[in-house]
Amino acid sequence: MCGIFGYIGTKTNAPEMIFKGLQTLEYRGYDSWGIAILNSNQKLQRQRQTGKIDKKQLKLSGGTIGIGHTRWATHGGVFEKNAHPHLDCNEEIAVLHNGIIENYQELKEELLKKGHHFTSDTDTEVVPHLLEEYVKHSPIKNAVKKTFQRLRGLSALVILYQRTKEIFVVKNGSPIVIGKGQDEYFIASDAVGILPYTNTLLFLNDHELAILGENSLVLEHIDTDKHIKEYFETVSWQQSHVTKGNYKHFMLKEIAEQPQVIRTIAKTQKELIEKQAPRIEHAFGTFFIGSGTASYACLAGTYLFSKIAHIHVNMAPASEFMYLEDFLTPDSLIIPLSQSGETIDIVEPLTRAKKKGSKILAIVNTLGSTIYRLADQTILLQAGPEKAVASTKAYTAKIAVLTYLAYAIAKDSQTGQKKLLESAQEIQRLLKPNTTKTLRSIAKKIARHEHVYLIGRGMSYATALEGALKIKEVSYIHAEGLAGGEIKHGPIALIDKGTPCIVIAPQDETHAAILSNAMELKSRGGYIIGISPKNSPIFDEWIQVKDTGIPLITQVIPLQLLGYFLSLQRGVADPDKPRNLAKSVTVK
Ligand code: AGP
Repeated sequence: MCGIFGYIGTKTNAPEMIFKGLQTLEYRGYDSWGIAILNSNQKLQRQRQTGKIDKKQLKLSGGTIGIGHTRWATHGGVFEKNAHPHLDCNEEIAVLHNGIIENYQELKEELLKKGHHFTSDTDTEVVPHLLEEYVKHSPIKNAVKKTFQRLRGLSALVILYQRTKEIFVVKNGSPIVIGKGQDEYFIASDAVGILPYTNTLLFLNDHELAILGENSLVLEHIDTDKHIKEYFETVSWQQSHVTKGNYKHFMLKEIAEQPQVIRTIAKTQKELIEKQAPRIEHAFGTFFIGSGTASYACLAGTYLFSKIAHIHVNMAPASEFMYLEDFLTPDSLIIPLSQSGETIDIVEPLTRAKKKGSKILAIVNTLGSTIYRLADQTILLQAGPEKAVASTKAYTAKIAVLTYLAYAIAKDSQTGQKKLLESAQEIQRLLKPNTTKTLRSIAKKIARHEHVYLIGRGMSYATALEGALKIKEVSYIHAEGLAGGEIKHGPIALIDKGTPCIVIAPQDETHAAILSNAMELKSRGGYIIGISPKNSPIFDEWIQVKDTGIPLITQVIPLQLLGYFLSLQRGVADPDKPRNLAKSVTVK
């Protein structure tokens, strides 16, 4: 989950470049950060701090070699002592780490017995001490190999060694990209960090070791010691610099961008979608997989495909998919949905599915990401960079692409396009003060409640789940999404006088039944907030969402806004960076 940025070359402002790189990668983790450089005396110098990187001042200066890290805590709390880089006892080896070392306890005990002094609670700190141990008897390169071979779990390591003035990079699972500039190299956990400097990139493979000197790069296989020829590629990607513009938060800006995102998909993706549709028709078993918000898009997709394309697709939360993989064959098609393209819960089962020969059609937002590169075919969401941790425009973009695909399978992409354009227009209307004013006032009324329940049926069940996730992650209110028909099987016991209940009631086959469920909630004291094209006497509050034929895309908008307004109402410090979360989830 953490962000990594390193530099080795001829420029003398390495700390500033690393600091900037970390700011770009901060979405990967934002509880603490740290940088280590070789200073003008060729000694390791380190700065570490807790908190968000944009609020802190860089104290290091000068230097042509350095590495930096922005952390999302796994082992050890958010304290300066746990921030990376970690050092060995002699302070000659600095280590950054992404991932989890599963056997760190046993390694730590072994090292403690040998007299090593630990200063953190992290799993990472065993690495510099193991290296210190091995380097006593072998060259640093061999010490790195031996160390890496002792680690269990998925990890990426970046090591700065003072004596040889080299950086060593090795990985297994977590992504690492190396960029080549003029007499210089960049290292990052994500291409986005390097693109401002160079488009010549090398996506390091698992079990490969990169040894970076001032103007040299050597690649070797970690287990066979075999030399590997450099395999840089020139990518045409541009890094768009994203700012908040006139918006207070990225979340609000990204919510507002949705009409444009849907229009772009409707107008530019028709051909590509029509080309991919037959792959789904001819696959023997199609599986949507995704995590969090993306998993709700997957669920929505199963309804859309059943309704529009009349075909059955399976879905699973990506972290569960590997337990369902036994029946995969070369004829199976996996469709991963992901904004970042880096989510480890997706990357892992995809890697396993690939080994079985199954095909992958990825629906991702991030060009060049791990999932993008793993896939046989890709449909890019074209939603533009999403910076807020709470996903909004990437969700509706996924729904738009799935809708379009379903219509393309039904040989009617024309209708799909028309409905997407109508939905974009309705979203535009929902963003106007008429609706936002009502939502702000609802947020004010319910902000002090501890629990909120959302119900939907059919496709709107996916919206109930996604709406609940939005509310919980940015406002910290416990919100639960339920299938309307399920409430009487247990959850209704939780409804008390005044409990906020959000009812998603589009004008479709679910309308009458979901209103009956709303009535059941109201009879137990529920305060009913209806999201529907039509008002009803059951509703205490009503948000009108007009029928565009794809209620999934439009009905989620008021819930995204409500989550945001609740967040402001409850005084959450930064809705863009909710506590405990990270934008890109690269640990299991
Ligand atoms: C969304 O609001 C969440 N922050 C989270 O559930 C996210 O959707 C999930 O981690 C998947 O991310 P991805 O789309 O980048 O794979």
